[in-house]
Amino acid sequence: MKGLILSGGRGTRLRPLTYTGAKQLVPVANKPVLFYAIEDLVDAGVLDIGIVISPETGDQVKAAVGDGARFGARVDYIPQDEPRGIAHGIKISQEYIRDDKFVLFLGDNFIRDGIVKQVAAFRDNAMNAQIILYKMDDPSSMGVAVLDGEGGVTQLVEKPKQFISPYAVIGIYMFDHHVFEAVNSIKPSARGELEITDTIQRLIDQKLTVRAHLIQGAWIDTGKVVDILEANRLVLDVLESKNEGQVDSDSRLEGRVVLEKGAVVVNSTIRGPAIIGERTRIENAFVGPYTSIYYDCTIQNCEIEHSVVLENSKISHLSKRVADSLIGRNAEIARADGRTQTLRLVIGDYSKVGI
Ligand code: DAU
Repeated sequence: MKGLILSGGRGTRLRPLTYTGAKQLVPVANKPVLFYAIEDLVDAGVLDIGIVISPETGDQVKAAVGDGARFGARVDYIPQDEPRGIAHGIKISQEYIRDDKFVLFLGDNFIRDGIVKQVAAFRDNAMNAQIILYKMDDPSSMGVAVLDGEGGVTQLVEKPKQFISPYAVIGIYMFDHHVFEAVNSIKPSARGELEITDTIQRLIDQKLTVRAHLIQGAWIDTGKVVDILEANRLVLDVLESKNEGQVDSDSRLEGRVVLEKGAVVVNSTIRGPAIIGERTRIENAFVGPYTSIYYDCTIQNCEIEHSVVLENSKISHLSKRVADSLIGRNAEIARADGRTQTLRLVIGDYSKVGI
């Protein structure tokens, strides 16, 4: 079996972070969300992985993942000229996949319990496609499946306006070669994309066997800021303490805390679960639960909790605690010198500031 990860797209819901970086490289507990997908595939025994990349962020993805050796995988890259839909990602990968069965994994999807069971079921049983479902009160922002009550699927609708079923189709699918006939037959939807839901609907209409597997464990589409914070919470919840950094005698580490190589903590308290990245400096500060600070950051004379901070950013001298925040790369947050009633801001397009 092969793996196909989609890591292109525009990432409009994660602006402004996605102006300069791939949304699949946003870190969850200091590891790009895309890496969890690769590890899930490798754990399930899928070692040949094609990654669909965009012209804008493809080089960053390549630089981060390389040839896959560090994951124990063999990774090839498949360029997509524009985000023409998930099914278009399959279409352009036909030569890579050939006649193999494969797992399609959307690179911004995060599944807590991995996919070992589902991949084994697909490998061992006669079916043409397998989808994975997650029960939600409001699945209207997802693809939604209607079931026949016996594990079969009768209908799939992309982001339905009316409630048709509580079963969201998560971004991990398994197919055999029949999917290529389907992606080559369907037409672009109203939003101009070749839809994965239309693809699977075509398989159903052709009387091919499409099975559904309902999961109980957590699943997150990390497309929005709140979803990144939630995925971060989930991973930090099972974090084990590790200290590869330096902590001075005036500092306290409480609960489960990871200090990565070269992290320095001076006169500060870190209350876990939290992770502090390589070469990051925490000084005269409080870092509260469910916080991930990535590499080469400075957190100085301030308090931060339940937040994710990306690489090379600096937060300093704030009188209010930063919470529930996602701070991008190379960002700086500091008090405007001497003028306590003034806010001095240089904010990128589509940024959000809560004061
Ligand atoms: O997350 C699950 C949902 O993913 C499913 O329930 C929906 O049926 C499915 O259409 C998809 O919906 P999204 O609106 O979340 O898809 P998004 O545009 O965010 O794309 C998902 C991933 O695929 C993302 O990592 C970007 C990548 N992608 C997307 C498109 C459209 C590509 O690489 N190329 C593309 O052309």
